[in-house]
Amino acid sequence: MDIEQIQTAARIINQGGLVAFPTETVYGLGANALNPLAVAKIFELKERPSFDPLIVHIASIGDLNTLTDNVGRNVIRLAEKFWPGPLTIVLPKSKLVPDIVTSGLNTVGIRMPDNDIALKLIMAANCPIAAPSANKFGKLSPVSAEHVKKQLPNVDYVLDGGHTSVGIESTIVSIEGNVSTLLRPGIITLADIENALPNMFIFNAAKPRKLIAPGLLKSHYSPLKPLYILDNQVFHFSESSGLIVHGRKDLILPESKIIYTSQSYNQLEIAANLFSALHIMEDDECIKQIFIEPVAEVGLGVAIMDRIKKAAYKYQQKTNY
Ligand code: TXA
Ligand code: MG
Repeated sequence: MDIEQIQTAARIINQGGLVAFPTETVYGLGANALNPLAVAKIFELKERPSFDPLIVHIASIGDLNTLTDNVGRNVIRLAEKFWPGPLTIVLPKSKLVPDIVTSGLNTVGIRMPDNDIALKLIMAANCPIAAPSANKFGKLSPVSAEHVKKQLPNVDYVLDGGHTSVGIESTIVSIEGNVSTLLRPGIITLADIENALPNMFIFNAAKPRKLIAPGLLKSHYSPLKPLYILDNQVFHFSESSGLIVHGRKDLILPESKIIYTSQSYNQLEIAANLFSALHIMEDDECIKQIFIEPVAEVGLGVAIMDRIKKAAYKYQQKTNY
């Protein structure tokens, strides 16, 4: 990536435009977080409901002081341990953060991405960058520049950083006083957070009573064609079936298209390749339905199954396989 592309992108951000850029997790659709009109364009282009708040991306831990009112010791501990990296921390917001960014909430989600292009963009633009994943609301997350262009062809500029390395969205935790809540599972697990904050109460909001993060909706990240999780039911595969597996070798189904996210159930590989596999199946006109093997819900498997279940949710009621 040459510096001129980053400078062009930074200029577009400063002029109130939208730039899609890589992070280590998924591509983001970025705007100047301090410019409400620019942020409004994100909601418009993504067709995102206005009640769904955005994550603000920063390039230095010091920026926490301007975006939030109260940066406690626990926050600094988390930031120093996991940033730059796939962790979003939800904190009480300062007056500087426009309400449109947080959908009117008095908290703001902040993270420092572990991606050189993203960090250089934030530094060149010299402002925090609000960015959701660069896809249409509810659809598959983008892990390459091509995925972004497929769903958002009208974005002002795309910085192409190749395939992202982590492949699923950041872990989200909120911190309020002595209480921390896991709002979205990710590659940084609940156990990682507990180890970093031994003196805190940490809740797992996997089954929230009220909607605190739309990433917690039951249906999200969905492909445009039916997706079914392979369980113990009988499935009828045909030549129009696509199959996504993670190491399973006993499936000899020559009529089906098979994609391996991993050869050996390596969870990091599965996470990195999950959305790409779904995009390939979505784009293949011969494939009419997709089947996916589940993974064990331990460690990073919790976050992987979170994405798989949400992607399959709206199709699971149907019985005519
Ligand atoms: O890895 C990621 O987090 C990617 C990259 C681009 O950084 N971003 C991402 O953004 O996944 P998005 O908008 O697709 O998902 C952000 C989630 C949403 O479910 C939103 O509701 C939640 O974060 N969120 C943001 N601010 C929040 C807040 N103040 N309180 C609770 N949830 C919040
Ligand atoms: Mg998203």
